[in-house]
Amino acid sequence: MATNQNAINMEKVQASAERVLGLLSGAVLSGMIYLGDRMGLYQALQESGPVTSLDLAQRTGLHERWIREWLQGQAAAGLITYEGEGKFSLSPEDAMVLANELSPMFLAGGFCALPQQMAVLERLPESFQTGLGLPYDAFGLEGARGIERLLAPWFRTVLVPVALPKLEGVVAKLEAGARAADVGCGAGVSLIEMAKAYPRSEFHGYDISKYALTRAEANKAQAGVRNVTFHDANGDALPANASFDFLTTFDCLHDMTNPAAVIRAIRQALRSDGTWLIADIHGKGTFEENLAENPLAPMMYGFSVLSCMSSALSEPGGAGLGTLGFPEPVARKMVTEAGFTRFQSHDFNNPINAYYEVRP
Ligand SMILES: C[S@@+](CC[C@H](N)C(=O)[O-])C[C@H]1O[C@@H](n2cnc3c(N)ncnc32)[C@H](O)[C@@H]1O
Repeated sequence: MATNQNAINMEKVQASAERVLGLLSGAVLSGMIYLGDRMGLYQALQESGPVTSLDLAQRTGLHERWIREWLQGQAAAGLITYEGEGKFSLSPEDAMVLANELSPMFLAGGFCALPQQMAVLERLPESFQTGLGLPYDAFGLEGARGIERLLAPWFRTVLVPVALPKLEGVVAKLEAGARAADVGCGAGVSLIEMAKAYPRSEFHGYDISKYALTRAEANKAQAGVRNVTFHDANGDALPANASFDFLTTFDCLHDMTNPAAVIRAIRQALRSDGTWLIADIHGKGTFEENLAENPLAPMMYGFSVLSCMSSALSEPGGAGLGTLGFPEPVARKMVTEAGFTRFQSHDFNNPINAYYEVRP
C-alpha cells in the first residue's frame, strides 16, 4: 500500500529517527564498555587519576591512537569526564559502576559476554521459524561468566548482610548448621558467599549448564570453601527427601523449560519447616502494565529473545516464560499449585529483582 506523504508528520519522523539513532548509539557504546572492561581501562583510569591518552597508553601498554579514540568516545557519552588540556578522568561515582568489581553497583562485568550474546542473532531467525530456542550453553563459557559478573555484586554485598536476616528464622538455622541448596546456581557465587558466612552449614548447588558448573568449581577452588558441593542436575537432581532447611533460586525459574516440575521438586526437597527464597525479575502482571510502568521492560524483552525465553523454549513443549514471565501473580499461582501455603514479598533494593519468601 502506498504511503500517503501528506499524512506523514515529519516532526514525528524526526523524533522516531532520533530514538532509533539513540538505540544504535547505545549498542555501539555497549561494545566500547565491553572493550574498556576487557582491557582493564576503567581500572587503569581509576588508579591513575586525570590522565592524557599518552599517559594511559603507557600505563596499559596499548597504542595511544586507539586509546585516544576510545577515551574521547567515552567522554562524549558522559561515561568518563574530560578535564581539559587533553586529560580524562573517571569520577569515584562512575568508578563504582564501571571499575570496582566489589561495588554493589558494578555493571561493566555484565558486558563481558556481549560478543557471544550478539552472535546468537545469526541463529535466532531460525528460532522464529521453528519455535525452538537455544539452550543456555549456546553462549559458551563467556556467557556463564557474563551472568556471573552481572549478578555477583548483589550476592557479595547484600545477600548475607541484608537479605538473609529478613527471612524468618533462616540465619539462626544456618548459624547452627543447616542443609541448604541453590537450584539454577550458575557460577555458585551465592552459595560461596553463604558458605563463607555459615561454616557449620552445608550448601549444594544444582545446575544443568556445563559452563556454569565449570565456573562454579573454579570459584569454589579460588574461595577455598569446603562446605559447598555442586551437582550436575542433568543426572544428579535435587533429592525428593525433604532434607533441606533452606532453598534458593536466583533469576532462573523464568529460564527453565519446565519451571513447574522444578517447583514441585523444590517442594519435595524442602523440610516442612523450611524456607525457599526466590529472586526473579521485577515484572508486572500484564504487558500493558510493563509498558506503562516498567522502565527496564525494553531491555528485558530484548534479553528474553536473546537468552531467557530462548532457553525456556530450548526443548519441545518448553514453558517459555521469558525474562518478564515470572512476576508476582505468576509466582504466587505456581508455588501455590505446588503445595506452598505462605508467600511474602521482600524489597531488597534491587532494581532488577523482586524477592519472595515461600514456605510450605
Ligand atoms: C540467569 S542464570 C542465573 C544463575 C545464578 N542463579 C545467578 O544468579 O548467577 C540461570 C541458570 O539457570 C540454570 N537452569 C536452567 N534450567 C535449569 C534446570 N532445569 N535445573 C537447574 N538449573 C537450570 C541455567 O543453566 C543457568 O545457570
